Amino acid sequence: MKQENRLIQRYSASERINHWIVAFCFILLALSGLALFYPSFSWFAQVFGTLQTARIIHPFVGIIMFIGFMIQFFRYAAHNIPNKEDVRWALSVKEVVMGHEVGDVGKYNAGQKVMFWAMTACLFVMLVTGVMMWQSPYFFADNFSIEARRIAILLHAWAALILIACIIVHVYAAIWIRGTIRAMTHGVVTENWAKSHHPAWYREIMQNEAKVKSAKKD
Ligand code: HEM
Repeated sequence: MKQENRLIQRYSASERINHWIVAFCFILLALSGLALFYPSFSWFAQVFGTLQTARIIHPFVGIIMFIGFMIQFFRYAAHNIPNKEDVRWALSVKEVVMGHEVGDVGKYNAGQKVMFWAMTACLFVMLVTGVMMWQSPYFFADNFSIEARRIAILLHAWAALILIACIIVHVYAAIWIRGTIRAMTHGVVTENWAKSHHPAWYREIMQNEAKVKSAKKD
């Protein structure tokens, strides 16, 4: 393999397992949630057997997804703090879509950062409103007035729609930028991918590698 196109580790196995558990939960939640919310999608519930089983399973999967996402949140939040390079990237987004990367992008670009914070906000709203709506012996839905629960249902549905839209964009972008899916399936990207899409992150990785090498020599 050519030296300039060697592979660089981007995600460890545990990060990937974590990501795919969250993604699998998301699919189950979207199917069961849409089945419960829109009568025309009620046939999605067949994945769970019946609409009743979909209703029982939905909140438990929601809790698993929230916990899984929180692990991602603490792993990646520091890499998703906006900086001035993001303004440059966002102002030149047209060029980026045409395939010409702009700015000294770190581990994540401005688009990924917006997605990250939008996912975080949606999941937080969905957890709080979901618990308020949960008609279960373990929870306290009866402690909330009917008005509060109605507002919770409305916010839950809006947050779900925004999250579904975000995930569609997230998946589309992952497929659009060639070589990105491999980061989440095999954990690696090519050196060329890193240099052209995330140059500041690439330099950081190279500096760390150089430090480790020189520490081994000593
Ligand atoms: C269902 C199909 C999905 C696919 C194909 C997919 C694909 C990917 C890929 C390829 C990456 C690596 C991007 C990079 O390193 O530049 C990634 C990162 C990530 N994904 Fe997904 N993903 C999916 C669903 C989800 C879901 C449902 C969530 C959470 C709601 C999620 C949250 C994340 C997060 C937090 C990252 C780390 C990068 C960041 O902060 O933007 N993904 N995904």
